[in-house]
Amino acid sequence: MPILLRSEYIGCQDISLPRLEKTAVALMRFCGQIDSELSILLTSDAGIQALNSQYRHKDKATNVLSFPLQDGEPANGVMLGDVVISVDTAAREAKERGRPLRCHINRLLIHGLLHLMGMDHERSGEEATAMSDKERELLQNLQLHERKNEMPILAINVDHVATLRQARGIDEPDPVLAAGICELAGASGIVAHLREDRRHMQDRDIRLLRQTIKTKLNLEMGAAEEIINIALDIHPDMVTLVPEKRQELTTEGGLDVSSQIDKLGRVIERMNNEKIPVSLFIDPDPKQITAALTVKATFVELHTGRYCDAKEAEERNREFDLIAAAAEQAYSQGLRVNAGHGLNYQTTQRVAALDTIEELSIGHAVMARAIMVGMDQAVREMLKLVTGK
Ligand code: PXP
Repeated sequence: MPILLRSEYIGCQDISLPRLEKTAVALMRFCGQIDSELSILLTSDAGIQALNSQYRHKDKATNVLSFPLQDGEPANGVMLGDVVISVDTAAREAKERGRPLRCHINRLLIHGLLHLMGMDHERSGEEATAMSDKERELLQNLQLHERKNEMPILAINVDHVATLRQARGIDEPDPVLAAGICELAGASGIVAHLREDRRHMQDRDIRLLRQTIKTKLNLEMGAAEEIINIALDIHPDMVTLVPEKRQELTTEGGLDVSSQIDKLGRVIERMNNEKIPVSLFIDPDPKQITAALTVKATFVELHTGRYCDAKEAEERNREFDLIAAAAEQAYSQGLRVNAGHGLNYQTTQRVAALDTIEELSIGHAVMARAIMVGMDQAVREMLKLVTGK
């Protein structure tokens, strides 16, 4: 994915070119242009005015110009064209809007890149809306990506609060209240698995979680029609598709995506039509990552169970290496990467240190500790291992 980045702007000290190049690489990945090339030129008002006049017959400076080399939406693996940004105009606009210059240049780069991807807000009102929606999505992805480079996020699975409630068949403890405490303790998301057999989470829990969660609700689910319809109705922030067997104690292995391309592809399409991103819970296996890309998943969640369950150091190291390699493969191919299952206070830190992993989903270990020390403390202790803070 070569980025040809040049600056003919004098006084570019406020802009880190290596950082801008990294941003461009991430944006290309988000656009599915992993193997394409992009040229970026930073110039002055005078420089952009000359290009605007020569190629568009508009003799004035502007903030960004795009010169596509392809017609329509380009395939992956081509030269997309040039994005030219005037640092003079960008600096003025950044000041007016009260944002750092770097952030404004990122926005201009996104705008220019989308023009190279065949989008054009000037063609119609509909296209203007589609382009501004896509700009917002890329910006959010970029912000998450940059945050991810600093630290992973901790999402707490509250299923087992419901397990305890269901053991008595009464109405406490309440997983909805537990989710609120987890958020107050610093969790960045809540995960809940609505199983077909309703062994822990109930429909009422999921609906109330949707209404009360202030961070992000990740609904874990099997790809069963009944549950799909509930997800489409309550609209979680994301769903994680898992294999589900009636007899298992907990989710026992990753999805075999490669043998269910059509089925999972259809589920993901239905979710994406409702703007619900989908994560696929998979074993750290290159074949499953390729299949996840084929079915257009947004995330994969790498199964950490075998790493956590390993009894000997050698086996644990081997399992960890598989996770690290799979995370690298998935990340470099444009998937966002989460991980989870079986992570505890001994095994989490090593996985959290992988800079390709965005979010960890942890349930049982935190709930087990919460019984002893309280939910707030159990979450905070895990958060410290995940973020180092
Ligand atoms: N991720 C997935 C896909 C799961 O199925 C589970 C278990 O519900 C978890 C993460 C959390 O696992 P644990 O409860 O072992 O932390």
